[in-house]
Amino acid sequence: MPVPKEVMEEVEKLRELIRKYDYYYYVLNNPLVSDAEYDELKRRLIELERKYPELITPDSPTQRVGAPPRKEFPNVQHSIPMLSLDDARNEEEIREIYERIIKLVGRNVEFCIEPKFDGSSLELIYENGVLVRAVTRGDGYVGEDVTPNARTIRTVPLRLFEDVSIEIRGEVVISKENFKKLNEELINKGEKPFANPRNAAAGSLMQLDSRITAQRPLDFIVWGFGKSGIKFAKQSEFLKKAEELGFKVPKPKVVKTLEEIIETYREWEKERDRYIYELDGMVVKVNEIELWEKLGYTARAPRWAFAAKFKPREKTTKILGVVWQVGRTGIITPVAELQPVEIGGATVSRATLHNVEILKKLGVRIGDTVVVSRAGDVIPQIIKPIEELRTGQEREIEIPNKCPVCGGEVATEGPFLKCLNLSCPAKLSASIKHLARREAFDIEGLGEKTSKLLVERGLVKDIADVFNLRKEDLKRLPGFSDVSAEQLVLAIERAKKIRLDRFIHALGIPGVGEATARLLAEKFKTLSALMNASKFEMMRIRGIGPETADAIVKFFSDERNRNSIKKMLEYGVEVYWGEEKKGPLSGKVFVFTGELDCCPRSKAKEGIL
Ligand code: IVH
Repeated sequence: MPVPKEVMEEVEKLRELIRKYDYYYYVLNNPLVSDAEYDELKRRLIELERKYPELITPDSPTQRVGAPPRKEFPNVQHSIPMLSLDDARNEEEIREIYERIIKLVGRNVEFCIEPKFDGSSLELIYENGVLVRAVTRGDGYVGEDVTPNARTIRTVPLRLFEDVSIEIRGEVVISKENFKKLNEELINKGEKPFANPRNAAAGSLMQLDSRITAQRPLDFIVWGFGKSGIKFAKQSEFLKKAEELGFKVPKPKVVKTLEEIIETYREWEKERDRYIYELDGMVVKVNEIELWEKLGYTARAPRWAFAAKFKPREKTTKILGVVWQVGRTGIITPVAELQPVEIGGATVSRATLHNVEILKKLGVRIGDTVVVSRAGDVIPQIIKPIEELRTGQEREIEIPNKCPVCGGEVATEGPFLKCLNLSCPAKLSASIKHLARREAFDIEGLGEKTSKLLVERGLVKDIADVFNLRKEDLKRLPGFSDVSAEQLVLAIERAKKIRLDRFIHALGIPGVGEATARLLAEKFKTLSALMNASKFEMMRIRGIGPETADAIVKFFSDERNRNSIKKMLEYGVEVYWGEEKKGPLSGKVFVFTGELDCCPRSKAKEGIL
């Protein structure tokens, strides 16, 4: 039966709309329609394609699910080699390379500065606007064909907004937030987490089974081009065009002087943690493309571009000992105490070893020299021991057979060791500490030490009691004075007015971090609506799966939790929702991450001005 003309037209119309909505959602982070409306269009397209399979084309938005596993990745030669970059590791080296370029050109030039994304490079080949092949960098000359994997990345357009033929080059990356989530999933399964976002991106891209890649929240960000059917005068112009074609591109900074390059280097390195992706530096490119040929190439890198690297996020240090920490849910986590080491501007003296299974897989011993990494705000991690440096003096790490805090019985639950004592004081003090975190109630002065004291002295028996603490009680605590007791009471009082997403985060529901809390707040808008929502309603939120939905429903149906919340409200906690310029806490406002943000229209992030 021939396909009716109206069906063909409807399919084309649906694809065009879905492509546009995908672009706004994934590339611009600025959804145009509701999830329900989008799902309906997708459902209709799938229905028509099922009925008329002859209409399915590889560039249809339905064709992103991943293909059956392959045995290997075929080799593909790049039409133009994908070279590397020369590195400058400090301001002095930036100056040297800058001067070399200016001398070769013989006049001042304009530079296009881009973030240097720490991921895995990839070339996408488009013929008449359709993605035909995706090839990794490989050795720069021959790469591997990973087309089925690349097709699953939502920010890789299957069809461009114009029918052009072009080779687009960029970086496959994973945001720091998704890196954290992916590692949490791996840790919960007792699998070794990825050492950094780069390994997570590369490891996810290079899966022989592209259905695994499809489940990984990867992004593709453009930084260059190979053979191109369009001519560009400047790199900054190319980036603008790439965005018009449907890609996610960085917001570049165009400058004219060495001083501006160095100023940008200082500024971006300082702001590095605010960026949603891990950056390992910035790339400085001569903006005028005509000059590229003139400047030429060395064997491995172009002379018209260089990387100005930020300080490394990995260092080596020694494990001095291991302590076992009991968390909110009773899970006992091994934490390595390290010889303090400076990583990316912060002193690291502790690093998590996650759980017993990972501890065994890592095979670290007390006294070992280990590689430690700290990517952005991610908790410092031990990557591996350097076995060659062992002296024979190292000691095996002993796994406790009772709770290190209450001495209660322990049991293994999956890869975790858990304290079974329901009223273990460590659980309550960990909950207080979590509640007071900056991202939750933000109560200054209520850290680990005070949380423990409050539980030990019986001042807090239920998490809600935090909001009923009196100055007279606090000032009797060791280390407290009249002034510090007053300050803590004031900080608690100020924190009582709290935005819904922060409140949800503060509750410490398993699997509900900052991002999920925000999704829930956006959807339900009031605490009571959230508390009474069904699992089904929660699962309709993009980004919330059945396990998390289950955990949330279970949390709110537990009488003890409902009572705690009720008590908090009785003690004056006031939960509100709504985007506002000025937060309830002085000095805190919503800001756009601005210049450094890869996507100019990305969502507002919270920060301190
Ligand atoms: S331009 C011939 N720009 O860094 C010019 N590369 O260390 C090639 N990278 O292989 C690179 N962000 O995978 C360029 N804005 C950016 C980049 C970038 C990340 C990666 C890329 C390259 C590696 C070189």
